[in-house]
Amino acid sequence: MTEHAPVPVFQPHVGVDTIKAVVDALHAGWLGMGAITQAFEEGLARFLELRDRHVLATNTGTSALHLGLLAAGVGAGDEVITPAFNFVADHQAIVATGATPVLCDVDDATLGLDPDKAAALVGPKTKAVLPLHFGGRPGRLKELYAMAERHRLRIVEDATHAFGSRADGRMLGSFGDITCFSFDPVKVITSIDGGAVVVGDRELLERLRHWRFLGIDRETHERYKNSRAWEYDVVGQGFRYHMTNINAAIGLSQLARADEFIAARRASCRLYNERLAGLDGVRRPATDFTDVAPFIYTVRVEADQREGLIEHLKRRGIATGIHFLPAQDFSFLKGCRRGDLSVTERVTREILTLPLHTLMPAAVVERVAAAIREYFGAR
Ligand SMILES: Cc1ncc(COP(=O)(O)O)c(C=O)c1O
Repeated sequence: MTEHAPVPVFQPHVGVDTIKAVVDALHAGWLGMGAITQAFEEGLARFLELRDRHVLATNTGTSALHLGLLAAGVGAGDEVITPAFNFVADHQAIVATGATPVLCDVDDATLGLDPDKAAALVGPKTKAVLPLHFGGRPGRLKELYAMAERHRLRIVEDATHAFGSRADGRMLGSFGDITCFSFDPVKVITSIDGGAVVVGDRELLERLRHWRFLGIDRETHERYKNSRAWEYDVVGQGFRYHMTNINAAIGLSQLARADEFIAARRASCRLYNERLAGLDGVRRPATDFTDVAPFIYTVRVEADQREGLIEHLKRRGIATGIHFLPAQDFSFLKGCRRGDLSVTERVTREILTLPLHTLMPAAVVERVAAAIREYFGAR
């Protein structure tokens, strides 16, 4: 990238390995869900260090969340507590089950769900909690599990930002209740579009397989052999949420390099932290990214400085993003606000996503950091 080349917020790495994987999968001729989907699931299980848990690949992270919620028994009339500081995919996945999202505030330090505020929102209709591991950081997960146990609630973890992150040394997905991932175009690894759900029991996995493919009982087993069952039963409601061989081939090629991608992203985040240290007006994430597989790198600035900084960076060819807008302000979710959302209200005005690419040259991080230092008048 030259000195003045535009810097996008996201830039996945698509190498010749990924291109070759797609071409090979296309030539193999079985384009839909098949043997490569199964191989991707097996690869995910190894990467996530699953021992007695099971993974199911889906066509998006949103459908993984929908299925994860169904697996938790969430349905019509239930309530699910989830951050207001979150992407609307989570809120829509909850609504898709017939349940109502209850918007909860986040913890100022980790930007993950605040367990105390979540506990205060528990009522007779509460069925589950859906925390987000914002930016790849698991937040106060242990406290959330303790809270959920006290109130007999299920936890569906949104780990779409945190593929490869660990909590207390354990890979997210390898423990806990239900965990969901995304492999959309800009995630740590991509299958172009894709997702996965991890559950703890085999019977549940079988139900997930039915939900994933139109409620058809034999579909998964046959398709994993690149064939189809022409006689089958339909055992319940189902969706068309399966991952194709082509997407799985892309996912597998990226998975083979996941450690390298994560290490590179982590190094970029650490360099940002270093270069923005001591800069008045910029609050960096309070982590050194050990055990974090970062999806985005965000800073917080005074609310009245954000627009100016965005414009300043834009003039220098540097794009930024905002994760997230306050969900309580969306017309569709207005009725889902219950308690105090003061942290969300503040953070959504202060947060700014800086460019973070899969394999990002240090010079690009230096350029972004220098432009930010320039804006705040530091050298
Ligand atoms: C927090 C969060 N949850 C869920 C999703 C949905 O994932 P997908 O785009 O794979 O449907 C995203 C996607 O960006 C996300 O950021």
